[in-house]
Amino acid sequence: MHLRRKLTLILSCYVLFATVSAYKPLVIMHGILTGRKSMVSMAEHIQEAHPETEITIINKYAAWESLAPMWHQVVDVGREIMKISAAHPDGINLIGYSQGGLIARAILQQFPNHNVKTFISLSSPQAGQYGTQFLHLFFPNLVRETAYELFYSSLGQHTSVGNYWNDPYHKELYYNYSKFLPYINNELESPYSSQYKYGLTKLDNLVLIGGPDDGVITPWESSHFGYYGENGSVIDLRKQPAYVNDTLGLQTLDLKGKLLLIKIHGVSHLQWHKNATVIDKFLLPFLD
Ligand SMILES: *[C@@H]1O[C@H](CO)[C@@H](O)[C@H](O)[C@H]1NC(C)=O
Ligand SMILES: *[C@@H]1O[C@H](CO)[C@@H](O)[C@H](O)[C@H]1NC(C)=O
Ligand SMILES: *[C@@H]1O[C@H](CO)[C@@H](O)[C@H](O)[C@H]1NC(C)=O
Ligand SMILES: *[C@@H]1O[C@H](CO)[C@@H](O)[C@H](O)[C@H]1NC(C)=O
Repeated sequence: MHLRRKLTLILSCYVLFATVSAYKPLVIMHGILTGRKSMVSMAEHIQEAHPETEITIINKYAAWESLAPMWHQVVDVGREIMKISAAHPDGINLIGYSQGGLIARAILQQFPNHNVKTFISLSSPQAGQYGTQFLHLFFPNLVRETAYELFYSSLGQHTSVGNYWNDPYHKELYYNYSKFLPYINNELESPYSSQYKYGLTKLDNLVLIGGPDDGVITPWESSHFGYYGENGSVIDLRKQPAYVNDTLGLQTLDLKGKLLLIKIHGVSHLQWHKNATVIDKFLLPFLD
């Protein structure tokens, strides 16, 4: 073979190989009352399967600091993710676990110039939370029926949980007091509503993972944007007003085949990021 042709062939093979093997950088946001460390084993597992993936685990708002107001965390962590985004013009992927998945999703909407391609929400209260199990560590006597008295107050809104507490029996108080969830979910219109929709619909893939054995996210369907209706039964995402009217762009994503709802049995809340099967079968295939 002619030397030049040979060289061209080698070079094009190299380019092909480089394209195939280069995984997008990945950013991971941890859950409530934990921190960076809790996500290290998942990151290592991903790196083993997808060598040379550049992985950043957000090292902020660990332990008690994870209770800081949602907007505060969204803006601060969002700036960090935007720096990573800017350094990788071909795009990045993002995973958020538990509360971290709600923070991460809000970042996509608050910073619509992001270049996140695939976002995976790993058992996150995307439509809110109405269960207190995980709060008993610091509010031992809190019951969900009266928790609204604490959370729907100026003081309660200074906690992350208060910001996404969604009591289906006190909707008016929720709309009056909650500073975060009704806005980021476009339940209440704001000057940012169209920006919020744009930031979400520009994704290539929105992957929502959750399951009925979670035990903490209540209702578990909140991980799929489903939620309690007024009579206490759960209304699935596709029957939710926000979906029907496409106020947040979820229907747009769905119709383009970019919204993936994944329901997995047998995984409790603290196992999602540790379960090797979940990582292999439901995270890795989306991390290109
Ligand atoms: C919510 O706010 C409106 C307007 O300020 C007020 O009229 C209404 O009583 C409030 N509702 C509750 C349940 O506090
Ligand atoms: C509760 O409301 C939903 C829709 O809003 C309805 O489909 C369901 O039948 C209701 N359930 C009861 C027990 O009233
Ligand atoms: C959709 O929006 C219209 C106009 O704002 C409203 O009248 C209607 O009730 C909404 N549909 C649902 C299912 O919420
Ligand atoms: C791990 O995930 C699989 C489903 O992918 C589930 O069947 C199994 O029970 C899980 N194991 C644990 C310990 O969470």
